[in-house]
Amino acid sequence: EEIEKGGYDHFMLKEIYEQPRAIKDTYRGRLLADQGLIRMAGIDLNMEKFLNANRIIIVACGTSWHAGLVAEYIFEDLARIPVEVEYASEFRYRNPVITDKDVLIAISQSGETADTLAAIKLAKEKGAFVFGVCNVVGSSIARETDAGAYTHAGPEIGVASTKAFTTQITVLTLIALKLAKAKGVFSESKYHEYLTELENIPNKVEKSLQSNALIEIIADVYKDSTNCLYLGRGYNFPVALEGALKLKEISYIHAEGYPAAEMKHGPIALIDEHMPVFVIATKKGHYEKVVSNIQEIKSRKGKIIAIVTEGDEQVRDLADHVIEVPETLESLTPLLTTIPLQLLSYHIAVMRGCNVDQPRNLAKSVTVE
Ligand code: G6P
Repeated sequence: EEIEKGGYDHFMLKEIYEQPRAIKDTYRGRLLADQGLIRMAGIDLNMEKFLNANRIIIVACGTSWHAGLVAEYIFEDLARIPVEVEYASEFRYRNPVITDKDVLIAISQSGETADTLAAIKLAKEKGAFVFGVCNVVGSSIARETDAGAYTHAGPEIGVASTKAFTTQITVLTLIALKLAKAKGVFSESKYHEYLTELENIPNKVEKSLQSNALIEIIADVYKDSTNCLYLGRGYNFPVALEGALKLKEISYIHAEGYPAAEMKHGPIALIDEHMPVFVIATKKGHYEKVVSNIQEIKSRKGKIIAIVTEGDEQVRDLADHVIEVPETLESLTPLLTTIPLQLLSYHIAVMRGCNVDQPRNLAKSVTVE
């Protein structure tokens, strides 16, 4: 096992650090930026299904559901296709309206999650075209779907999902870009800008990982918290949810993710000097509005830990701590802003003496309903 950890203390840390390579492996052979091409057989062969779809329904559980939420923003924003994202366990039991004009995308790292598998079977019965995004090759979901794309993240051992999440987002971004191109809703220059920037992402993830020492210091300050709030907006709202989930899963600290603007409809009542608030405040993405949320937290003495774009001055003046990530296109920011939140949860869990790779009560894959 020590050899498999490759010198890291835990699988989770190894998998966090593998992300630049994992993302590259996800687009290797698919993204041909110099030719302006994205090759994905599962999409190419079924392009008509996607182009004629009334909507895309995404089903998943846990972290994969958060990747689905990011994909909702990407598909609607880039490809202008309506998307609904559902917990597989809710979708399958609520007599959903599904027709043969629907495309269902099931996202699952393991490809074995019972509720996701059942949702797929239901959608197929009703005539929908079902596409899988899985990591485990030959898994039940990979076999049950009509077509699919693997994430190629390599085995993920840590129960808390890390590289599966960022590679799922990468695959879904590639699909959205292909559909945007095929629909003609994207200018050539915008399309090329995306392809080129996707190729820069592994280096930018690498740069984001360089905040590790700073994150360890921040983790030490907040490790004894009993509650934490995570806020983000737009593309980074699902990242806030995922940040909170990571902390809950491995450190057993209660954490809640919220859309930043909804703070005033509830969570603001909880803010006092004992409440750390992790805010994703990257440039673009309603930046000024998030800054005003930060001011509201500050005036209630909440502790602010902000994830900001490199060189940001405005938030630095307000926040207790800032963690920088490189600048990128707005829809690709989740691939970077997720990284410091993963590291933060990891360090807090280690400092609290928790079993990081095998947290209590959780399983890597949930094959029971
Ligand atoms: C479990 C795991 C999570 C995972 C979820 C969905 O709860 O602990 O890390 O996100 O299942 O799993 P899947 O394999 O379908 O992505």
